[in-house]
Amino acid sequence: MLRNNDAGFGWVTIVLHWTIAILIFVLLALGFTMRRLPIDPSLQFSLYQWHKSLGFTVLALAAIRALWHGLELRPRPPQGLTAIERRAAGATHVALIALALAVPFAGWAVASTSTLNIPSFYFNWFVIPHLPMAKSAPAEDLWTLVHMTLAYLLLGFVALHALAALYHHVVRHDDVLVRMLQTGPRRRLPSQAADTDPLIVGRKRQ
Ligand code: HEM
Ligand code: HEM
Repeated sequence: MLRNNDAGFGWVTIVLHWTIAILIFVLLALGFTMRRLPIDPSLQFSLYQWHKSLGFTVLALAAIRALWHGLELRPRPPQGLTAIERRAAGATHVALIALALAVPFAGWAVASTSTLNIPSFYFNWFVIPHLPMAKSAPAEDLWTLVHMTLAYLLLGFVALHALAALYHHVVRHDDVLVRMLQTGPRRRLPSQAADTDPLIVGRKRQ
């Protein structure tokens, strides 16, 4: 099953979700290491190149993801959520999608405004042009601050989001986490027995 349906996510959503999630963790660790830890300058230079290449990959995947999220059917929310919880989950998803675009975009602005004017090689295959922005130390400092702030804000949202997923799995025993790991017919958990009751299912869909 490639596409989402009412009961769960398809492979396109699942693969995009976990690929972007893993890349974001790697990028946060790389960014922190190259900028904050005392490392050899030549290692630092190559970490910057890896950081930029992987960051551009996230930017491209996040753009596809944003379109996909807008166009695809959303699976029905897990049962038993209040309207506020549903809205909070939806708002967190939108914030995550927006930040996964804004953070690499701000990183691209850092590289573009830097007075060092170092080209951004995409994995040594080709050069990604700088954005048409004036190069100056104040502009670079500003975009570095924006990039860093948004990156750690993204980390905060991811932590909240991952804790919520764990809470669903461990405390509420619903299939929220499982349906982001597999497609197809879902394992029916005891707490979902109501799903088989047509009256309750009918009420839930109103
Ligand atoms: C989702 C994608 C990205 C994440 C999560 C991310 C995260 C980070 C983090 C955590 C730092 C270190 C902040 C600090 O503690 O000072 C950093 C620095 C940096 N990032 Fe990214 N980044 C991403 C994408 C990009 C992209 C696409 C580029 C450029 C094309 C980029 C360029 C940079 C640069 C140049 C710095 C160092 C700034 C400086 O030394 O002044 N990043 N990034
Ligand atoms: C350890 C990390 C993560 C865990 C455990 C996790 C878990 C989940 C789970 C269980 C869902 C399904 C929610 C539902 O059934 O309604 C979900 C959806 C979602 N997650 Fe994550 N997630 C993680 C990281 C991330 C990251 C890094 C991002 C984005 C930057 C992200 C963005 C989203 C979005 C946008 C959705 C809504 C479905 C979609 O359109 O893709 N997640 N996540």
